[in-house]
Amino acid sequence: MSVDSPEQLRGLKRAGELVAQTLRVLRGAVAPGVSTLELDRLAAETFARHGARSGPILTYAYPGSVCISVDEEVVHGVPGDRILRPGELVTLDVAAELGGYHADAAVTVPVGNVNAPRRRLIKATRAALAEGIRAAQPGASLRDVGAAIEREARRRGFTVLRELTGHGIGYAMHEDPIVFNWAAPEAKTRLTPGLVFTIEPMLTAGRPRIVLERDGWTIRTADRAPSAHEEHTIMVSEAGDPLVLTVA
Ligand code: MF3
Ligand code: CO
Repeated sequence: MSVDSPEQLRGLKRAGELVAQTLRVLRGAVAPGVSTLELDRLAAETFARHGARSGPILTYAYPGSVCISVDEEVVHGVPGDRILRPGELVTLDVAAELGGYHADAAVTVPVGNVNAPRRRLIKATRAALAEGIRAAQPGASLRDVGAAIEREARRRGFTVLRELTGHGIGYAMHEDPIVFNWAAPEAKTRLTPGLVFTIEPMLTAGRPRIVLERDGWTIRTADRAPSAHEEHTIMVSEAGDPLVLTVA
C-alpha cells in the first residue's frame, strides 16, 4: 500500500510494533533444547493477547502462527518437533495483522555458542538489510535497493539467494511490488513517499540453490549450508531514510 493519511500510518505503526514485540518475546525464548513448536505457541499467545492475527494463517492457511527456519532452512520453516541445538542459527519470521494492517519482520539469532562463520553470516545479513533500507530514498528505484543489498552481501563474502524476495505490504501481507535482493532489470518501480514494503535479504555461505522440503512449505539450501534472513517493513519518507515500521 501507499500511505496517504495519518490514520493509515497509525494503524501500520501499531501492527509494526506488535510484530517487533512478538519477535522480542521469541528471541528471548531461543535456547538449546527448545522446540520450534514451543516458540510458535508463544507467538500465538502474544498475538491473541493483543487482538492480532497470524499473517501466514490468514493468508495461506499456513500450518503455524509464524515461520521458524533452522540453519539450512531458509524460509517458511514449519514449527514442529525440531529441537534447537547449540551452534545452530534460527530465523524467526513474524507477520501479523492488527486492526486491518499487516506488518512483517524477521531476525536470525544464534542458538547457544555459534562458530565465527555463522556469526559473520548473521552480521552480513543484517548489514545487507541496513544497506537496502538506506537505499530506499524517495526518487530511487527498487533496483537501487536490490543493488545495495547484493553489494554488501558480496563485500562480506556471502551470496544472496536471488529467487527469494521482499514484497509490498499493508492491507494484505503480500502486495505488489516484488522487492528483489539484487539489481534485477525488472525492478523499475520508483520509490514515492508513503510506499510500504518489506526488505528481506536471505544470504547463504554456500551455493545459491534452494529446494522445497517434502512438507510443501519449508525452503532450504540445496547443499544444506546455513542461511540467514533479516527483514523489516518500511515506509518511504518524503526525504531521506525510510521509516522502519517494525520497531517496538
Ligand atoms: N514473512 C513471510 C514472507 O514474507 C511469510 C510467509 S507466509 C507463508 O514470505 F505462508 F508463505 F509461509
Ligand atoms: Co516478508
